[in-house]
Amino acid sequence: MWTRTLLRKRSAQVSTVAIVPSDDPKRLEQLLRTLESAGYNTSLWSVRGLFSVKNAKKDREIRSEFGGPMGLEEALRYADSTFRKSEHTALVILPATRSDVLNAFLKDWAFDYEIYESDSLVVVFGFTELTEDVTRNAIVIDVPLSTEEERRALCEEIANDLGVEWDEQTVAAGAGLTLHEFEAALVESVAIRRKITASHITAVKVEVAKKTRLLEIEEPKFGFERVGGYDEIKLFLKQNIVRVFEERERAETLALRPPRGILFFGPGGTGKTLFAKAMARELNLPFLRLKTENIVSRWYGETERSMARTLKFAEEVAPAVLFVDEIDRFGKRGQTGEHETTRRTFSILLEWLGEQERKTIVVAATNRPQDLDDAFVRVGRFDYMIPVLHPDAEARKSILEVHTSVARKVPLDEDVELTELAERTEGFSGAELEELVIRAARVAFRRNAEKVCWDDFEEALETFRIDMAARERQIKEYRHLASRFCNDLSLLRNQR
Ligand SMILES: Nc1ncnc2c1ncn2[C@@H]1O[C@H](COP(=O)(O)OP(=O)(O)OP(=O)(O)O)[C@@H](O)[C@H]1O
Ligand SMILES: [Mg+2]
Repeated sequence: MWTRTLLRKRSAQVSTVAIVPSDDPKRLEQLLRTLESAGYNTSLWSVRGLFSVKNAKKDREIRSEFGGPMGLEEALRYADSTFRKSEHTALVILPATRSDVLNAFLKDWAFDYEIYESDSLVVVFGFTELTEDVTRNAIVIDVPLSTEEERRALCEEIANDLGVEWDEQTVAAGAGLTLHEFEAALVESVAIRRKITASHITAVKVEVAKKTRLLEIEEPKFGFERVGGYDEIKLFLKQNIVRVFEERERAETLALRPPRGILFFGPGGTGKTLFAKAMARELNLPFLRLKTENIVSRWYGETERSMARTLKFAEEVAPAVLFVDEIDRFGKRGQTGEHETTRRTFSILLEWLGEQERKTIVVAATNRPQDLDDAFVRVGRFDYMIPVLHPDAEARKSILEVHTSVARKVPLDEDVELTELAERTEGFSGAELEELVIRAARVAFRRNAEKVCWDDFEEALETFRIDMAARERQIKEYRHLASRFCNDLSLLRNQR
């Protein structure tokens, strides 16, 4: 268990300062229990409240000594002095989001011989921004949100207490929740549904993800059959991603590692988001959408914390597809006028993308590959960069087919020739073709027809205002970008 790792590292003299990035009260309980059973004289400090929260009597003493609430620095000084008076003491700190003073103390403590010798220990429990000076010299513990065994044990315990049944599906559905959240979800499930159900746990998880993890969880409902055209890309994805994922072991015998990331780039409305969702379905994996629009939050430090949690969540739910739309929002590092929070959140994402052990498959999309930080483009972060450009006539026909007979059923009159319609819609994107079908259906509806005929399409076509000269320029520009960012141009078949 993680607490044992912590004790082992402390006794091996790795450092006197340990960092436990968690905000689960049950993990805090585990920590305190472990420290106490290892004979540590433990005190718990909340930097947020600036006083010791462990022992009420002691708390009063401290306050009277300082005559009112202490400043952070005074509090840490006080902690430091009590800390030095006794042997084998553990000081557990619940940090604020960011504090230079705390960082300064931690840095000193990490190098402090007296603390070393007295066999004492400082533990920072929580998410806070620490300087590299501190993290480099501290024991950083990787705490799982909840492990399968822990969730199983909780199920057993709660089911026993409340006299209900539980099943393994519930254990699996809880992946990505903290122990505290999982426990609350179990109790709530019993309260609302009179039993423990995996579907309730899943519903709670969707809510938790939305609230704290910058994520939206979706069940992908369709696969590649809903994407018209782009056959070359579909084939490529099937062979290089889906099959390698499904036949991981065989792939490994050929030294192929499982796919970890792809980036779709191209102009708006060509189906990048559609492809991402369809990929999750083809892989039969949950689809997690990172809410990049929420990256810059109101509270300082809040976003970094959410990002760290989000990625941890994704890893515990994994294998899953994590979709990062508009990844160019992160901009380039070192760009002037860039928001501090965005920069740090971005570093967390970048670092994670580069991690060897990452299990989540990241699918990202952008309209502006030229605006991405070089680090995104560097090998290892994304296995493939795939251009999704404007569809050619053949692809346009397939897209029209999708929107008349797969995604929606639109009865067509015999005089409708999709091949011809595809010829007539040079320069249209997938989204525009979809819109064309809808507009034609509206025309047919207005004239009380049961089927959409050729003239309805003609009428609908006249309502489109597409600046063809500008479109041609855009097409040219994206072809250029495609050759710059994609080294497999066979993918460009069926595209303009
Ligand atoms: N190749 C396609 N086949 C079928 N439908 C398509 C295709 N491309 C686009 N569409 C339709 O257009 C809609 C919008 O496409 P999508 O959101 O995937 O585009 P995008 O490339 O992500 O655009 P943006 O860059 O603006 O985010 C889709 O929901 C789908 O209905
Ligand atoms: Mg999109």
